[in-house]
Amino acid sequence: MDRYIIKGGNPLVGEVEIGGAKNAALGIIAASIMTDETVTIENLPDVNDTNVLLEAMQGIGVRVMRIDRHTVKINASSVFSHCIEYDYIRKIRASYYLLGALLGKYRHAEVALPGGCKIGSRPIDQHIKGFKALGAKVTLNHGNIITEADQLRSTHLYFDVVSVGATINVMMAAAMSEGTTIMENVAKEPHVVDIANFLNSMGAKIRGAGTNVIRITGVRKLHGTTYSIIPDQIEAGTFMFAAAATRGDVTVLNVIPKHLEATIYKLIELGCEVEEFDDAVRVVSKGNLKPTTVKTLPYTGFPTDMQPQMGVTLSICSGTSIVIESIFENRFKYLDEIKRMGADVQVDGTTATIRGIDHLCGANVNALDLRAGAALCIAGLAAEGTTVVDDIHYIKRGYEKFDEKLRSLGGIIEEVDSERALQKARMRIG
Ligand code: UD1
Repeated sequence: MDRYIIKGGNPLVGEVEIGGAKNAALGIIAASIMTDETVTIENLPDVNDTNVLLEAMQGIGVRVMRIDRHTVKINASSVFSHCIEYDYIRKIRASYYLLGALLGKYRHAEVALPGGCKIGSRPIDQHIKGFKALGAKVTLNHGNIITEADQLRSTHLYFDVVSVGATINVMMAAAMSEGTTIMENVAKEPHVVDIANFLNSMGAKIRGAGTNVIRITGVRKLHGTTYSIIPDQIEAGTFMFAAAATRGDVTVLNVIPKHLEATIYKLIELGCEVEEFDDAVRVVSKGNLKPTTVKTLPYTGFPTDMQPQMGVTLSICSGTSIVIESIFENRFKYLDEIKRMGADVQVDGTTATIRGIDHLCGANVNALDLRAGAALCIAGLAAEGTTVVDDIHYIKRGYEKFDEKLRSLGGIIEEVDSERALQKARMRIG
């Protein structure tokens, strides 16, 4: 079993290059199936989630050519099936983007229905509502969700909840429908905008992405393109909180500071100095951190994907902080892990009260999910003593070379793949 062993106590110092946004990449990879021409995607993060989605697409006949680690060419002219197996959906939930992409292009898609996951029940009723509004028939058969239509028509749709996934999925299908579709109460996340821009670069007519209302005039055909994915705001924010928690001085490079505003404001409230450049942000953390209150919200609010990284940082502030998780009902499990490192935390439903302590103590902890895993690494880097983070396959789903990047900032972190390697590393790093 792969784990990280971490020796805490070193402030992280230096510069770190941020990769392409994983969540944008997933939508863009899926949308590239909507043309028979070749699509070139640049700044693609080399993480497990994107690689599994590419595999799922190869499974239905898509040709995937790796140009280099972060560039891929995709050609979907030889697709022979519109059915994505459960195995892929089990590994990566966002395979469901192929529902919207295949429905738009082929008027038919069959994808295993995603279940709940560790952070919550995650229904997809809004995706289905959108497909139906476009005139598709949606049925469930032996655990598969089937969407089909002779013709996709335009619609005026109001989403009942702000959903990133539903916005992207329905936008993809509508991009190849008849007439003009209006979608209201949509998600405004930077990756929604990036996927809209990508589709537009293929000839789609999507306006308003990044606002509450998206207008889509359907086109019959999309063409090939070359497109570079935006930087990953969550990867960047993770390193920014790592700087804060370890009392370090870290500059994240290749970012869009505007996308990081909610994170930047919280870091300033904690007492960090934050300096913004054109495509970089520097976080300097000195002395005691101050407590605060934070509530996760859809963009432009504070991202739920940054809540665990913030939570571990608040656990070593001087004072009591309140964290309200309003997006996913089950996203506080990592707090039980940091309790084992000495954190003083109380959870009541969707509210966590975190009483800051002087320092965390190293312990054995479990990654639980992608962002919780990254947060526990931050906890380990800030803690006194040695921390072992188990189940790091979750972290590899969304962070490229995470341990390497942390080491380049002075963090002491090593990946070990056996009990013996763990013992050896313990002797080496203490
Ligand atoms: C995406 C991100 C994920 C991030 C989340 C919120 C990707 C691949 N994943 O997930 O990292 O944490 O946005 O920013 O981009 N909901 C419904 N019905 C639906 C769909 C969603 O009730 O049909 C609810 C969800 O349970 C949740 C809320 O809406 O409470 C937001 O979920 P959503 O924005 O859809 O998250 P994902 O797209 O799954």
